[in-house]
This record gives sequence, structure tokens and C-alpha cells, in this order.
Amino acid sequence: MDFSKISAQGLVLLGCGKMGSAMLQGWLANGLHASAVSVIDPYPSEWVQGLVADGLTLNGDVPENPAIVLIAVKPQMMGDALPVLRPLGDGKTVFLSIAAGTSIASFAALLGENTPIIRAMPNTPAAIARGITALVGNELIDESQLAMAEGLLSAVGQTVRLDDEIHMDAVTAVSGSGPAYVFHLIETLAAAGVAQGLSADLAMKLAKATVAGAGQLAEDANEDPAQLRINVTSPAGTTAAALDVLMDEEIGFPTLLNKAVKAAADRGRELGKS
Ligand SMILES: NC(=O)c1ccc[n+]([C@@H]2O[C@H](COP(=O)([O-])OP(=O)(O)OC[C@H]3O[C@@H](n4cnc5c(N)ncnc54)[C@H](OP(=O)(O)O)[C@@H]3O)[C@@H](O)[C@H]2O)c1
Repeated sequence: MDFSKISAQGLVLLGCGKMGSAMLQGWLANGLHASAVSVIDPYPSEWVQGLVADGLTLNGDVPENPAIVLIAVKPQMMGDALPVLRPLGDGKTVFLSIAAGTSIASFAALLGENTPIIRAMPNTPAAIARGITALVGNELIDESQLAMAEGLLSAVGQTVRLDDEIHMDAVTAVSGSGPAYVFHLIETLAAAGVAQGLSADLAMKLAKATVAGAGQLAEDANEDPAQLRINVTSPAGTTAAALDVLMDEEIGFPTLLNKAVKAAADRGRELGKS
């Protein structure tokens, strides 16, 4: 990615926990110099402290006009964490937040109504640079600012743009919370293997590798997942027997996942109002 604007003006990272560190690691690996980065975090990890020797600013003076501030603190910390950066609001600095459930309007209320703000929703595979992040900006954000945010977020995986913030609750319910559904699929697939007589270790190994491999195949293949499913399902075979259960209209995956994703999206909307 092109870091020239960030190298010239600086980047502020507010909160350097799991997500903040995963991104910072990616930027540095992709050529951003540590001296362009200011981290604000009351209890920085040893890894971040070690970057001070490379020129990173830790809990020091923030640049006057940074290109971008990345907000990676927990939503409940926002009220404590954000006021130090209020002086950068209502200016040209872009605020990019990855805080789950925190709306653009609530940032505008804290930072000033004329602040360019981008809200993004990553997911946990970001930790291994296999995340997917959806992003949307307010009306003050232009194409080059969105591209800068995408460049930064692409350090931890793929990015997609939303045309309206209203879709953020649905995105959260699909990709934000989605890894937990898949982890549960792995747990239950392994338990089902044990019920069929496999050892727990073997069943877990089979379940993990199956989900990981099928996921990779679904991403890489030219065919869509429905066709990939059909490809492995011989008529009246073993897969067909299982899919009869899983695709059952009343108790199968379609109904269950629809209910689960709706519950997550509804909860997101509720939390957004509080
Ligand atoms: N993890 C995910 O998969 C995921 C997915 C989607 C969205 N997100 C969002 O990403 C954000 C960060 O999540 P995370 O998992 O990286 O959390 P995390 O590991 O707890 O990181 C948050 C960091 O912010 C620091 N912090 C706390 N108060 C602060 C303050 N006043 N000023 C500056 N820094 C402060 C924390 O320090 P202490 O450790 O000392 O408290 C911690 O290092 C959250 O808003 C979350 O909603 C995360």
C-alpha cells in the first residue's frame, strides 16, 4: 500500500490490544516506518514498548495534523479514551473506528460534527491476516480517504465497502460474529464424530481440518458453494443422507442460521440504541 500521506503526517493508534497490534504488525511488515506511528495505550504490551527503539511514539505527543486516527479500544472504553483526541476533531484528520456497535453519530457527538469518520467492522481471523472488514464513511469522507482506510485494514485481510451504515448490524451478524458460529460447528462436528466411535483427538483434528479446508476451497474455487456441495453429494450416498437432515426445512441449517443471524442483528440494533 502507499503509505506516503501517513508517513508525512503520521498515524495515531488509540488502543493497541489484539486488533490494534495485529494491524500495526501488518503495516510495519508492509513498509510503514515505526516513526510514523503514535500509539496511545495505558498498558502497552512489551512488543509495542520494544518498537519505541525503532522510533514509534508511545503515549507521547500526538502529531498536530495526523492523516488518520485508528480507534481500536473496546466500545465501553470509548468515553474515557476518546476525549484526548477531541482537538483533532472537526479537521482534516480521518477517524477510523473498528469498535463493534459504535455508530458514526456517536463518534461525531464526541469528536465534532465536522469530523471525517469511517466505521469498520473486522473479525477475529484478522489475527492471522485472514479477516474480512466492512467499512462505511460519513458524508465528509472522500474516495482517497476511504482508499487509505482500506489500505490500512487490508493488512489484516480482505475489505468490503458498504453503501449505508444501516447494513452494519447485518454485517456484524454474518462476518463479525460468524467465526463463533464456525467454531461451534467445529465443536459439534467433533462431538458427533466421538458419538460415532472416534477418539476425541482424532474427531477434533478431522473437524478442524475439514472446516479449514472446505473454507479455503470455497474461497478459491470458481464454482459457488452450492455447486461444490453438489459435487461431493452422490445420489443416495453418505453425504446425501447427512444433507437430508441438515437441509431439512424445519430443523436444518437454513432455518437455524436464519434465526441465529437475525438474533445477532436484532441484538446489534438494540445495543446501538442504548
Ligand atoms: N477482537 C475482534 O475480533 C474484534 C472484531 C471486531 C471488532 N473489534 C473491535 O476492536 C476493538 C478492539 O478490540 P480488541 O479485541 O483489540 O480489544 P483489546 O485487546 O482489549 O484492545 C483494546 C486496547 O485498548 C486499550 N485501552 C483501554 N483503555 C484505553 C484508553 N483510555 N486509551 C487508550 N487505550 C486504551 C486496552 O488496554 P488494556 O488492555 O490495558 O485495557 C487494550 O490494549 C473493540 O472496539 C472491538 O469491538 C474486535
